[in-house]
Amino acid sequence: PNRQQDRRSYDAEGAETRIEARIAAGRKGEFDNTPDTDPDLVGNRTWGRAIANRMVESTLGTDAVEASRIGDEAALNDAIERGVSAADAWQELGADERARILYRAAEKLEEHRADLLEVAGSEAGKTLDQGDPEVSEAIDFANYYAMLGQQLEQVDGATHTSKKLVAVIPPWNFPIAIPAGGTLAALASGASVIIKPASNSARTGAVMVEALWEAGVPRDVLQLAQFTDRELGSKLVADERVDRLILTGSYETAETFRALRQDLPILAETSGKNAIIVTPNADLDLAAKDVAQSAFGHAGQKCSAASLVILVGSVAKSRRFRSQLIDAVQSLTVGTPEHLDTQMGPVITAPSGKLLRGLTTLGPGESWAIKPEPLASDSPLALDKNGENKLWSPGVRDGVRRGSEYHLTEYFGPILGIMTADTLDEAIDIVNDIEYGLTTGLHSLDSDELATWLDRIQAGNLYANRGITGAIVRRQSFGGWKKSAIGAGTKAGGPNYLHGLVDWSDAAPAD
Ligand code: SER
Repeated sequence: PNRQQDRRSYDAEGAETRIEARIAAGRKGEFDNTPDTDPDLVGNRTWGRAIANRMVESTLGTDAVEASRIGDEAALNDAIERGVSAADAWQELGADERARILYRAAEKLEEHRADLLEVAGSEAGKTLDQGDPEVSEAIDFANYYAMLGQQLEQVDGATHTSKKLVAVIPPWNFPIAIPAGGTLAALASGASVIIKPASNSARTGAVMVEALWEAGVPRDVLQLAQFTDRELGSKLVADERVDRLILTGSYETAETFRALRQDLPILAETSGKNAIIVTPNADLDLAAKDVAQSAFGHAGQKCSAASLVILVGSVAKSRRFRSQLIDAVQSLTVGTPEHLDTQMGPVITAPSGKLLRGLTTLGPGESWAIKPEPLASDSPLALDKNGENKLWSPGVRDGVRRGSEYHLTEYFGPILGIMTADTLDEAIDIVNDIEYGLTTGLHSLDSDELATWLDRIQAGNLYANRGITGAIVRRQSFGGWKKSAIGAGTKAGGPNYLHGLVDWSDAAPAD
């Protein structure tokens, strides 16, 4: 298929003019967000259908993944050495020239929007409506971090030293935006990068990296890696030539990496167990919609997803909100991503362990408001690499008790628990009991309640009267608190993120 013919809104001729404008704007610290969705994708179902049709047989990225395999220590050493050596020339380019390449990377990500959506759907079960904003977020990261890189040099030029080599280890659940974000931040800060995409989304990571290479990021400055065994991955992190680790994954994974090398600065966003509180002063229609979307978007496989809804006072006592919520969840179209009507896709692999328990087992006092079930499908995208079914319907459990396993555990799948509280303060205590603190929400139109919640709630990202997933670069910088973060605490997509990637001297600012 001719991908560019399907793609109508990208104006390739205008790219260089836009890049020049970005460079000039970047010198002034100006940045515009990319619209969340591509107008052609939503307005032109033909384009969406063309992409979706390609998901089933997609092999995009396969060659790059195969070529990126690092099989022994000698090859690892070679990759590290090449990265370190390439950093000098990358830094000598200066921030404006690096930014030029990164603004071009933003253009290339836009140009390859269809490819990225195809491969993320094929490999990671991303529906178009979930994948499309992710491409936009990756583009925002490119433009925003390029601008911050320009600012870092202009404003702070005399006081910082760029690092040589950053390892980026992203997850599979945002297979486009998170790998892109870490990589682009490190590149903008003047470092070389070795990125190891998650094996469940390795092809998507490769297609993203290829877009950056196409934009002119040298191949030694940005190296793609897959390791043939775990030991080798650990050796990368343990190697003293690696200056920073950017990691998104479970808290346990982050701790394992931290134990490998105590002196390595880590920028990690880790696990979450996130709740939305709904008070009697909420717009209940809006709350039901936001809870359903936050819980079941990308089948709940977001570190930011809502896993609990806590009903306060009369909302807990009446049937009204529960039945609205159940209606909203039952109305979700569950299926595979090549069907454009799918609103909730499959999980990444057939559920096992903790997730399977969460989908099948109730704790004391709990009952199913909606019982999750495996769904039959004839789509190959419903099967994982082992040929097992990974398509499940969403589940809602009621009666979750404070202190129970469900209250405190992250499941990372299509499952939501309902809890109740007599007062807002009690609901806040229920949230603060949790050892993680990533995202959290309040649905209330009462300003006193909002003030109480803002004062007491413990989480890195707070959302009032909206869903709790889908942070937007610069507007809502993203990072965790408590066991949802490890490291410097600078937030992704925020003004200080690059500061965590460079070294600061005691020298006074240039002027
Ligand atoms: N940034 C994502 C979100 O906000 C999570 O990583 O949903």
